[in-house]
Amino acid sequence: MARILSPSGTLFFILFHIFILLISQAVAQLPDFVYSVCLNDKGNYTANSIYQANLNHLLSILPSQGGNGYGFYNHSYGNSSNKVYAIGFCRGDVKPDVCSSCLNNATQRLTQVCPNQKETLGWYDLCMLRYSNRSMLGVLETAQTFFWWNAQNVSSHVDEFTKDLRSLLDSLKYQAAAGGSLRKFATGSATAPEFQTLYALVECTPDLSQRDCNNCLDYMFGNIPGFGDMKTGGGDISTNCNFWYDTQLFYDPTADTPLASSPPSLAPTSSPPSPSSPNNTTTTGGNEGNTSRNIVIITVVSSSVVALALIISVCACLNITRAKRRDENYVQYNLFWY
Ligand SMILES: *[C@@H]1O[C@H](CO)[C@@H](O)[C@H](O)[C@H]1NC(C)=O
Ligand SMILES: *[C@@H]1O[C@H](CO)[C@@H](O)[C@H](O)[C@H]1NC(C)=O
Ligand SMILES: *[C@@H]1O[C@H](CO)[C@@H](O)[C@H](O)[C@H]1NC(C)=O
Ligand SMILES: *[C@@H]1O[C@H](CO)[C@@H](O)[C@H](O)[C@H]1NC(C)=O
Ligand SMILES: *[C@@H]1O[C@H](CO)[C@@H](O)[C@H](O)[C@H]1NC(C)=O
Ligand SMILES: *[C@@H]1O[C@H](CO)[C@@H](O)[C@H](O)[C@H]1NC(C)=O
Ligand SMILES: *[C@@H]1O[C@H](CO)[C@@H](O)[C@H](O)[C@H]1NC(C)=O
Ligand SMILES: *[C@@H]1O[C@H](CO)[C@@H](O)[C@H](O)[C@H]1NC(C)=O
Repeated sequence: MARILSPSGTLFFILFHIFILLISQAVAQLPDFVYSVCLNDKGNYTANSIYQANLNHLLSILPSQGGNGYGFYNHSYGNSSNKVYAIGFCRGDVKPDVCSSCLNNATQRLTQVCPNQKETLGWYDLCMLRYSNRSMLGVLETAQTFFWWNAQNVSSHVDEFTKDLRSLLDSLKYQAAAGGSLRKFATGSATAPEFQTLYALVECTPDLSQRDCNNCLDYMFGNIPGFGDMKTGGGDISTNCNFWYDTQLFYDPTADTPLASSPPSLAPTSSPPSPSSPNNTTTTGGNEGNTSRNIVIITVVSSSVVALALIISVCACLNITRAKRRDENYVQYNLFWY
């Protein structure tokens, strides 16, 4: 008893809380991923190795390389066993400056979250980053997938709503898959029961073949029943293809026209991306799994050594921020992966 109340104990108590506060602020500067994975079974690199130097160099140059002009960034750096590959991919309606800011955050955050894994993936709302010691380009992988939905049930005409959604998604799927080697992206809307409008966005990474893109999206659409009761909004995100839908407009409707081929400017041209030559880049891939956990657990697991209490308070802090952000649009935010 007496020891707990001693001056040094009190001082420790105060310092500890100041420490927690500082740490939470330091972490809060970089947004936390919606979801991230550190693949422990794909090998680790050691601190201060050539591999790490190559990775850091690759990540430092990736966001400024401009990508292929449509939000797809594919680069590699290094030689033989120290060669590192990275892929960045922004949602198709994201403006180039926001895209590179998003990827810039992701390159810094991912090495914090996964301090020594060779293969990792991180997703923000608007961009994805993955890196590995293998080339992932052109390989369809659905192992890392997560889906989310808002908490609002479709209140009536559920079958009709589901049918309307599926036919909208299917038509966008064909459109996106046929988009060519630079961009596989489509948005659109349809009328749903009770005068509602359904909005949807579908996309594949442009390195997929048309067939793989169709297959990837079919696989993802197949997860909709996993939402349980039909929800008015949701989506499914993976390494190679994604979709979102909602009864509110959530994407930038001006973005269905291709972005200019160099990042900082926008060229409002007509629909299918005109072939332009992408700058030099390289790619990486994903994987598979079937577990269902909570995102907070992942954050805790992948955070490193610090005291457990510290990690928990940081996570709590990040979660509050995330919940706040979601609540602007959704009654409740649900997130699962498998
Ligand atoms: C990547 O690293 C792992 C573990 O170090 C190794 O087993 C694998 O062969 C490497 N892959 C490539 C393509 O070099
Ligand atoms: C890589 O490191 C993580 C901890 O950072 C550890 O859990 C994992 O087992 C390691 N993997 C290998 C293959 O050594
Ligand atoms: C390619 O790189 C050059 C020079 O680095 C740059 O000016 C140009 O905008 C880039 N193009 C694309 C499509 O990123
Ligand atoms: C890779 O090898 C080439 C040729 O040997 C060399 O010029 C280059 O500097 C090496 N790159 C790295 C990152 O080590
Ligand atoms: C990147 O992180 C900064 C804070 O460090 C934040 O202000 C900015 O909005 C983030 N960029 C994106 C695109 O989320
Ligand atoms: C949605 O429906 C399920 C079961 O029908 C119910 O448990 C849940 O509370 C409903 N959600 C809302 C927000 O009404
Ligand atoms: C791509 O790289 C090659 C050699 O690595 C170089 O000759 C060429 O100029 C580069 N192209 C662009 C657009 O940067
Ligand atoms: C990825 O980068 C490689 C090497 O620079 C390039 O040949 C390839 O065309 C790029 N692929 C895509 C889909 O951008």
